[in-house]
Amino acid sequence: MKIGMAHEWPELLEQWITHYRSFSADGKPASYIPALAQANPSHLGVYIIGADGTNMKAGDWDVTFTMQSISKVISFVAVCLEMGIDKVTEWVDMEPTGDAFNSISRLEENWPGKPFNPLINAGAITVASLLPGNNPEEKVEVVLDLLEKIVGQRLPINKQIYQSEWESAHRNRAIAHYVKEAGFLNGSVDEALECYFKLCSIELNTEQLAMISLVLAADGVHPLREQTIIPVQIARISKALMLTCGMYNASGKFAAFVGVPAKSGVSGGIMAAVPARNRSRILPFQNGCGIGIYGPAIDKYGNSLSGSMLLQHIANEWDLNIF
Ligand code: DON
Repeated sequence: MKIGMAHEWPELLEQWITHYRSFSADGKPASYIPALAQANPSHLGVYIIGADGTNMKAGDWDVTFTMQSISKVISFVAVCLEMGIDKVTEWVDMEPTGDAFNSISRLEENWPGKPFNPLINAGAITVASLLPGNNPEEKVEVVLDLLEKIVGQRLPINKQIYQSEWESAHRNRAIAHYVKEAGFLNGSVDEALECYFKLCSIELNTEQLAMISLVLAADGVHPLREQTIIPVQIARISKALMLTCGMYNASGKFAAFVGVPAKSGVSGGIMAAVPARNRSRILPFQNGCGIGIYGPAIDKYGNSLSGSMLLQHIANEWDLNIF
């Protein structure tokens, strides 16, 4: 383990970025949404914010990208805030699937059961349909309001990505119709999909992603403003879902080898929420931190390839594994 002296940590982080960036060549940006394929595959950036506000950043940390599936955690939180956890679980379960994020097979096998969890597409489309509001715009505003409380800024929707996904979303349409027929989609299929795609198209950078992760890491409290934004139970359930389902059918391996609650998106973002550590060694971020990573070359599971490797390295070197 390379503990390093405090003044060496930022330099170490830069070295790790340079090292893992070279692995991006083994993956490539998602192409099933044509606009995502335009990302620069060698980008790799990281931003880490500690509970006391200390931060470290390296590489392409300031490049913006769309949240994609990372938004599933935030819309789940928003729906729980509105309806309460018990009501939400009447619509969507909390069980990992071990399947790809956009798998349809379980919907058939489990027919007419509720979606397995809110972080696969079926569950996230259900959650989008449950957001308060009379139309997709109002529902999206609810999530943007919540994000604004956390990052201190109104995050934009990337219209080009939204349009591209809307035009190419045959599988998501099929999933939404299955869920509707099974009785687990509130309102119209098209409105739920519009809302879901817009949430996927929310744009941010790794600093903003790290801030969201930090609030989850701190059990829903904004540590810099000492304000509770998410009730502790909802924050904890979100982290449990991230650990068990957040990296899709690589979640088990991720828990075993990285050991932090994390959520990925096909644009190459990963957020990781690291709770406070009670270990005595002199290492950075032992009071908890939020980590935002961006690396658009993804692997076969839909997770950032170099980003996952970088996160594993950081967690191992700085002893952030929760287990
Ligand atoms: O549903 C989709 O296809 C995307 N907009 C989101 C998927 C995603 O990010 C899966 N992640 N790894």
